[in-house]
Amino acid sequence: MLREGGYPLAVCGIAGYVGPRGSVEVVYDQLKRLEYRGYDSAGIAYLNGVDIKVLKRAGKLSNLGELLGDVPNDTHLAIAHSRWATHGAPTDLNAHPHFDRYEQVAIIHNGIIENYLELKEELARAGHSFHSETDTEIAAHVIGAEYAQGVPLEEAVRRAVRRLRGAYALVVISRKEREKIVAARNASPLVIGLGEGENLLASDIPALLPYTREVVILEDDRIAVLTREGLRILDLDGKEEPIQPIHIEWDIAAAEKGGYEHFMLKEINEQPEVIHQCLAGRIDERNMIRFEQVFSEHVWNEVDRVNIIACGTAYHAGLMGKALFEKMLRLPTDVFHSSEFRYGDPVLSPKSLAIFISQSGETADSLAALRLCKDRRIRTLGIVNVIGSSIARECDRTILTQAGPEICVASTKAYTAQVLVLTLLALHIAQVKEMPGVRPAEYVKALRGLHEHAARALELEPSIIDLAERLHRTPLIFFLGRGPDAHVALEAALKMKEIAYIATQESPAGEMKHGPLALVTEGVVAVFGATCASLRDKLVSNMREVQAREGEVVVVTTDDDTITPTSADHTLRIPGTGFEFLDALLSVIPLQLLAYHVARLRGCEIDQPRNLAKSVTVE
Ligand code: F6R
Repeated sequence: MLREGGYPLAVCGIAGYVGPRGSVEVVYDQLKRLEYRGYDSAGIAYLNGVDIKVLKRAGKLSNLGELLGDVPNDTHLAIAHSRWATHGAPTDLNAHPHFDRYEQVAIIHNGIIENYLELKEELARAGHSFHSETDTEIAAHVIGAEYAQGVPLEEAVRRAVRRLRGAYALVVISRKEREKIVAARNASPLVIGLGEGENLLASDIPALLPYTREVVILEDDRIAVLTREGLRILDLDGKEEPIQPIHIEWDIAAAEKGGYEHFMLKEINEQPEVIHQCLAGRIDERNMIRFEQVFSEHVWNEVDRVNIIACGTAYHAGLMGKALFEKMLRLPTDVFHSSEFRYGDPVLSPKSLAIFISQSGETADSLAALRLCKDRRIRTLGIVNVIGSSIARECDRTILTQAGPEICVASTKAYTAQVLVLTLLALHIAQVKEMPGVRPAEYVKALRGLHEHAARALELEPSIIDLAERLHRTPLIFFLGRGPDAHVALEAALKMKEIAYIATQESPAGEMKHGPLALVTEGVVAVFGATCASLRDKLVSNMREVQAREGEVVVVTTDDDTITPTSADHTLRIPGTGFEFLDALLSVIPLQLLAYHVARLRGCEIDQPRNLAKSVTVE
């Protein structure tokens, strides 16, 4: 049931307990059960005598564990958080929970408060000062200010969330109302576990299962009030709502994957949410791009060349970046494999910008290439998923992809977020430089609906399963395209070879007759990307070349294409956005699913393919 419509992206881990057991022990155990998703710091708040006591530490969960020795075991209400940082480095100070100004409430949060800078300025004018760099502390102060009016905690939270824009699952406890935990949710996951004389909450079901299988999924714009005896759910007008628990049958291993068979499938399905999250706070009401902490206007006017440096999937995202930068900005851009760049004695203009793309932020060749650029005094910009990673720290500036932890070795959602950040960056530069002919606002409108298009692309899964049945024994699969589709073809081929262990041949479709066509014989499959409308006629000739040699043709295209499907043996149609790059980007989704289902039918070890590691920290 939860699988329908995807699974909400849980970036940080949230836990909470009220009941007769030692609450700190319970919430620490809950955090351990969320450990598989990755985190960079963790903290706990519990009621202690007349106070709220907060313990937090950067780094491993065991660092926090070391602080728990002196915690009394008669504390019966606690909340806990493991953080995957989005605002502010992973330090002790930035770790949650955070207090309000008066230390009357402590909160933990998963998500991004998009208007936190506005709120922070407003609070600062009213005399508030802050201890961390987080958006969460701002939310704590907003709630605390309402609470100081003397209303019940749930009323303070209800009033405060009306002022917050963005995604949040917020959990709040108070010094005065010592029997309740209040939670609020908008677009970030929050689940509540109903026990006997005890209640719990968490960002993800595995953290509830050892205690209960009766679960309530908190809906958006709802406030939950948990006590030992029960649960109340209120809407944003304060009206009480009926409670509808569901019974969870999954075992813990299945629950970690949100009910999916593999992390890869979960991560593919998270992409609508990843798109949403990656855009959060970066596009404003006027359809302008807003990036904090990138270079100022004079830098963009000075940069005369961009070099994008990355490995594997991130390199493929870089190719999309080159196409965007050259087409939209007429800015000469090269893309290098990190391993070639670092040993290649590259020619670097002093006015150039080097962009490093990396999911992990720890890839050895990319890091070495970054250090080479720094030695040569070249400006550097990171596009990284893991905050606090080496590349994120060492680049002059870093933009986070905000894709959440990626656990499957084969990268899927990180690629989508990387291309999206490159798109936002190109639009941002176009905006700053007032590029003639580029209308960032039009693009931004399409970006707003992109997550819905991604969700519709995921709906192709049943036809992809049928296709995978037909293809999974083929010895060789071609991945071909023109324009941006040619770059997506490289990524689709990488997915197929790394998880399904099928040999692939990938190139721009126009290169076929310069050699690779010799490999086409009966039984060989060629997958064409055809989202680029202006090049479809050319593709049709390539498709016929394959069919003339008894190869089978699959085409991935947009729903308005009347040209290529007539020449294909199988067609997968994604919804068109009206923008070629975005259509090409979305076309990766069915191709990821195809690799997944082929691998599954071939009985492959999908999440941990042979010979590969998630983070390549050695040469
Ligand atoms: C393929 C894949 C790898 C990584 C590459 C770079 O699915 O995951 O090709 O993209 O090893 O890793 P990061 O992005 O961590 O630098």
